[in-house]
Amino acid sequence: MPQGLSIQPLHATFGAIVTGFRITELDEATWQDLHAAWLDYALLIFPGQFLKRDEQIAFARRFGPLEFEMAALSNVKADGTLRLEKDNDDMMKILKGNMGWHADSTYMPVQAKGAVFTAEVVPTVGGHTGWADMRAAYDALDAATRAKVDGLSAHHSLHYSQSKLGHQTRRADGEYSGYGLHDGPVPLRPLVKVHPETGRKSLLIGRHAHDIPGMDKAESERFLERLVAFACQPPRVYHHDWRPGDAVVWDNRCLLHQATPWDMTQPRVMWHSRIAGDPLSEAALAA
Ligand SMILES: [Fe+2]
Repeated sequence: MPQGLSIQPLHATFGAIVTGFRITELDEATWQDLHAAWLDYALLIFPGQFLKRDEQIAFARRFGPLEFEMAALSNVKADGTLRLEKDNDDMMKILKGNMGWHADSTYMPVQAKGAVFTAEVVPTVGGHTGWADMRAAYDALDAATRAKVDGLSAHHSLHYSQSKLGHQTRRADGEYSGYGLHDGPVPLRPLVKVHPETGRKSLLIGRHAHDIPGMDKAESERFLERLVAFACQPPRVYHHDWRPGDAVVWDNRCLLHQATPWDMTQPRVMWHSRIAGDPLSEAALAA
């Protein structure tokens, strides 16, 4: 490992803080160590990197092809004014929706592999991002529940998760009718995902999951809610209190994540680069 590089585990079942090097100066030997640490810890946090747009995209590409290069997650509108919570527009409903535990793009034909996420402007209070370790959650299930989930699958849809917040996702004039709100087949995914690189099993649940085949709707909803409530508990969770310049990269194949509330009279500007899943291992089950 290069001199000065430090990988300090969090006080949780996953995650580590990486210091002592610049992402922009990443060499091949360091990359090997970082990638191994990423598979092991699933979440790496790099304080104070202040990546420029091209640098963030280049770092994300080290992990694989991108689903999309960079998107703002922000309550600042294009004209510089703040999106108001009381307006409760469709974008606000997406921001609020992201406060539910979820994995990214499970509602797409191929779910995401991971993401690089950076902080540009952060509020003084709140606006933390949480992650939860679904490997440890699976391992912590009692034997009967583990046997049960091993044979189950669920549908994943952004229409479903957003409709629970009153977001009318199928309205043609909706302000947010974009990414993820497709009219293709609703992906069906096993409740237990086997990680393609580590072989570890994890729970694939979260707010987009619904309608387990073989269960009635209400029973499925209760069962999935109970699983999320159990899974997303210490020591399997970590919430990051952002500083400007922080960068993280997480493994979307074994973690859930969530945004948390902040005072929306304050600006919050975050940048998300989404790493594409491998169609061999992250595709939905065949219809
Ligand atoms: Fe997300």
